[in-house]
Amino acid sequence: MTSNLERSDVLHSWCVQADWNGPTITGGRGAHFWDAEGRDFLDMSSLAECMNLGHQHPALVRAIQDQAARLCFTTSAWGAEPRAELAHRLLDKSGFEGGRVFFTLGGADANEHAVKFARQASGKPRGLIITRDRSYHGASYATMALSGDARTASADPEAFGVLRALPPYAYRRCLGTRSEDACGEAAAAHVAQLIDQAPAPGVAAVLMEPDAGTNGIVAPDTYWPALRQATRDRGALLIADEVMSGFGRCGEWFAWQRHGEAGRPDLMTLAKGLTGAHVPLGAVVLSQAVAARLEHQMLYTGLTYCGHPLACAAGVAAMQAYEDEGLIERSRTLGRQMFERLKGLQAKHPVIGDVRGGHGLFAVLEFVKDAATREPLAPWPDSPPALKRLVDEARQVGVSFASRGNLLLLAPPLVIGEAELSDAIDLLDRLMTNQVFA
Ligand SMILES: Cc1ncc(COP(=O)(O)O)c(C=O)c1O
Repeated sequence: MTSNLERSDVLHSWCVQADWNGPTITGGRGAHFWDAEGRDFLDMSSLAECMNLGHQHPALVRAIQDQAARLCFTTSAWGAEPRAELAHRLLDKSGFEGGRVFFTLGGADANEHAVKFARQASGKPRGLIITRDRSYHGASYATMALSGDARTASADPEAFGVLRALPPYAYRRCLGTRSEDACGEAAAAHVAQLIDQAPAPGVAAVLMEPDAGTNGIVAPDTYWPALRQATRDRGALLIADEVMSGFGRCGEWFAWQRHGEAGRPDLMTLAKGLTGAHVPLGAVVLSQAVAARLEHQMLYTGLTYCGHPLACAAGVAAMQAYEDEGLIERSRTLGRQMFERLKGLQAKHPVIGDVRGGHGLFAVLEFVKDAATREPLAPWPDSPPALKRLVDEARQVGVSFASRGNLLLLAPPLVIGEAELSDAIDLLDRLMTNQVFA
């Protein structure tokens, strides 16, 4: 009955409505969720790379219930206790002492607000923003324009003052080299050149993901520190989109922290793992210097539900759970193990052209027709039927993987059991052995 209503009455995201055939999820626990037909799935993608703490984390459910009993809502312009506490914890964990936090409803509006704040703080209200090709920053109009993604191609970057840079995609030789280190440096130098040559009013900010990319590009180690230096030297603010890479996904609280102070951005945006997706919430964290520039200016922004108390209470409980359960370190350790196992699969299955990631529980397999020529299995962003079949077959036996184009993205909840993770990779191995990738 509900699945009929789902099919007839709901307009679903990211699909052709007539083809919709998603499961209806009714419950979950840890790394598993189950559907209305009683089928249980091991979640190898944290749904949309957001359920870092697993499904129905008891501490979060309790925190939401307790907060609901106390206070569900207060206007965003006034104070709310869990909001202040969460802001304080975020500033503490990121080492942005003296900065400020603005709360949003999710990742897209966090990125929009980061751009707004960067333009205002830089004194360039129409300053240009540089983002990358093959990036994804959200599906609102402005973030579609910020995203260099086929899914968002209908938005006009020029109208939003967005310039596009080439991505640090060594495997595809985007900057004339296949060396990871050289590619990272060349990509940062390319952004520097774009800043130097930008027309008036010049570049206000550069907005990019520091590590794992939603479109399957993982930044080489040299990239982010070089980008930080290049932007600092040119007076452009650096915004780290940590919507997906934050909260342990890349083995740190925030992915830029792998580079220490040399990677510290001016602003960072958060969502997904901030509440482990138990309640919608996003945030922009501003450094002390950026916050100081805004301190005596009118801030023309706000959303009715910014910093909603229920969401902030979930955020506080989430941060406590990451800490209590050692999940950031766990992600780093299991991420390394997962990466090594996937490299083993690559050695066995030539259809895997590249394996990227592994700093935490995030990895990408890029599928090719021919490992030597690197010919893609399907032209980007098309999804090769054989990969779709593999994902379907895995789901039929109770393991849920996510794929995008030629990519299989692995991003399980950080609470996944070691044996479960290993079984899921064994399954991939079996399915790849049986699958015909013609
Ligand atoms: C890197 C990145 N930025 C922004 C977004 C948009 O976040 P939201 O869907 O919460 O608006 C996403 C979502 O997938 C993302 O992965």
